Amino acid sequence: MTDRAVAMVTAAAGAGIGAAIARRLASDGFDVVVTDIHERRGQELARELSEAHGGEFLYLPLDVTDTDGVQRQVAEVVDRKGSIDVLVNNAGWSKIEPVAEMSIETWQRCLDVDLTGTFACMRYVLPHMIERGRGSIVNISSIAAYETSREHGAAYSAAKAGVLALTRVAAAENGQFGVRVNAITPGLIYNDFLRKIYPDEFFDGYAQDRSLVGRVGRPEDVASLVSFLASDEAGYITGEVYGISGGVYPHG
Ligand SMILES: NC(=O)c1ccc[n+]([C@@H]2O[C@H](COP(=O)([O-])OP(=O)(O)OC[C@H]3O[C@@H](n4cnc5c(N)ncnc54)[C@H](O)[C@@H]3O)[C@@H](O)[C@H]2O)c1
Repeated sequence: MTDRAVAMVTAAAGAGIGAAIARRLASDGFDVVVTDIHERRGQELARELSEAHGGEFLYLPLDVTDTDGVQRQVAEVVDRKGSIDVLVNNAGWSKIEPVAEMSIETWQRCLDVDLTGTFACMRYVLPHMIERGRGSIVNISSIAAYETSREHGAAYSAAKAGVLALTRVAAAENGQFGVRVNAITPGLIYNDFLRKIYPDEFFDGYAQDRSLVGRVGRPEDVASLVSFLASDEAGYITGEVYGISGGVYPHG
């Protein structure tokens, strides 16, 4: 049990947005439950948060594609922490293959992680939030949901667009119960893992030619927006989609 509000973050142990969200929400005073498939990094982050903020931050192994596991771990969080006030669905996966060549496995995996994984976490957290009459859910989508581009791959774009529809309908269904549901569509957000995949010119080109603010995004940029949407200050905001792309795709 904890006297702090509890935030559960999926895919929180990576090099990017999820870990930045976990750190930011912990700084905001949340008792953050770090979940991820990567145990060692998950445990390290939970330990880092415990040392920085005091108390015992929890890591739970969670593969969002394992729906039984999602149900079990959500129950575990409620049991051990007493509540889930905020859920951040950050898990995402992509493989870029043209539609005409895409394997069914790529298509299915992308939908499983990005869309069904988000649904599964909401499916099991929502009844708990409804019962308590409060909660905020933030889903991490992408500008890939809108763009006519070869950069993201159709499976990822379709899954992330699905997340926006899921967000809006869940918001409509649950506002009456005090639960808000919003989504964020980031543009390119730098992290060390992406740096291994893409050449430096990719990031430099984006910063110089596409971003309106002369740089690519940082995980902390997204974490700031999550922090606001998670807070009671955003009490009149639900069913919304917020872009955060340095102006590359300024549509909600
Ligand atoms: N980085 C970007 O440029 C960018 C842009 C737009 C949207 N996004 C979205 O933001 C989110 C975070 O992306 P990121 O690039 O910052 O990575 P991240 O570092 O936040 O996430 C990677 C983590 O995801 C975990 N993970 C992978 N599959 C999982 C699964 N099935 N279940 C649970 N955890 C799993 C990995 O173990 C890793 O720790 C994703 O949803 C991504 O689609 C990223």
